[in-house]
Amino acid sequence: MPKTTLTAIIVFLLLRNSQSLCSRYPSNYLRRPFTTSLQSQQPPIDLRVTMADMKKDDKVWATAEDDLAKGSDQDKYKNEDKVKGAVVRPSVKFLDKVGTSRFPVEAGRYRLYVAEACPWSHRTYMMWKLKGLDKGIVGLTLTGWKLENISFTPPYDDYHGWDFDESEGSESSPNYYKEPNGFSYIEQLYELAHPGFREVYESKGQRPYYSAPVLFDEKEKKIVSTESADIIKMFNSVFDSVGATPIDLAPADLEAEMEAVNSIVYPKINDGVYRCGFSTTQEAYELAYHSHWSGMDAIEERLGNQRFLCGDTFTLSDIRLWVTLARYDSVYFSHFKTNRNRLREMPNLYRYLRDVYRIPGIAETLNLPHIVKHYYFSQRMVNPTAIWPLGGPTTDFFTKDTGDLGYEPYQFPELRDV
Ligand SMILES: *[C@@H]1O[C@H](CO)[C@@H](O)[C@H](O)[C@H]1NC(C)=O
Repeated sequence: MPKTTLTAIIVFLLLRNSQSLCSRYPSNYLRRPFTTSLQSQQPPIDLRVTMADMKKDDKVWATAEDDLAKGSDQDKYKNEDKVKGAVVRPSVKFLDKVGTSRFPVEAGRYRLYVAEACPWSHRTYMMWKLKGLDKGIVGLTLTGWKLENISFTPPYDDYHGWDFDESEGSESSPNYYKEPNGFSYIEQLYELAHPGFREVYESKGQRPYYSAPVLFDEKEKKIVSTESADIIKMFNSVFDSVGATPIDLAPADLEAEMEAVNSIVYPKINDGVYRCGFSTTQEAYELAYHSHWSGMDAIEERLGNQRFLCGDTFTLSDIRLWVTLARYDSVYFSHFKTNRNRLREMPNLYRYLRDVYRIPGIAETLNLPHIVKHYYFSQRMVNPTAIWPLGGPTTDFFTKDTGDLGYEPYQFPELRDV
């Protein structure tokens, strides 16, 4: 090839590359485009699982193709950003209910497995506490904070899901970190309840989906549900006949409003922060970021006119929002790059965060050290060094200035003195 042609090709390639980079980055970025070896190896994260031909030996398995799954949040509020690198959640879920012939209402029969770091788990833990299910009605086991060896390419032999570590517990209070069924990892629960669970995924080249929370039937050794939105609804009323605290966080007259709020909060905020943090392209991240902040601004405005999401009454919609806000300044702002504003710069959201924190029972469900360590340590695709940061909010953040929140501490209507 003549030298001039070669030079022309090289010059052309250099120009083309620098132009495409210029359009997105300031010039001092150009010298070393940032890709770690980890990023370049990874395919875009598509969390979707399609299991149309999956062996369905059990009705509680729901796939995206099932009517059963249509009611789940992941299906109702699916990420519609059709760009490379966008985050889509799997829709396989255990979606059965307590209060059916298969899973009758009984005190002491069921156990809730909660990963305190995980916001979806946290919702169910808050409801467990508020409804007084700790009084021998539903058992509780807390996992450790580590979720090790999350991998995006086979083999998945070293991935076992959340671990149990009873040394976390203290002797002075019930040790909820003690696992009574003899499991060391949540994988064992899934395999006991549904033998072959791992194999179903691995035969498709997928990582087994050991999600938390899990509502487990200890009598039949079956999983009732892994859908937190359903579990909090169940907890709201299903155990009232066997001694749960009779407060109602889903009053019938607020149903439509709760649904309207959830349709913003789930896709733009709860899952919205994950859509920012797990995006694997700049384009997908930017779409997710703008969607997230449009949701945050809408809720900030709403809370300027009223105490809670649906007015004066604290509802399940508040539980759903609060778990994300509680992690905001510690994790999502930096780790998930949602960093337009810190929560403490959003006056109404910040007031709301602290107002909810002082409802009796809530503070005990928030384990900030677990939360921070979990996200930064476990999500190596976001933070390959696994180092967790030392700064950030402590409990002061939630209790500061609580005298001046504009409201008396909240009392559930059913528990008010008359
Ligand atoms: C993670 O993988 C390593 C091997 O790569 C293994 O030694 C370790 O036990 C695994 N951790 C868990 C929690 O399974």
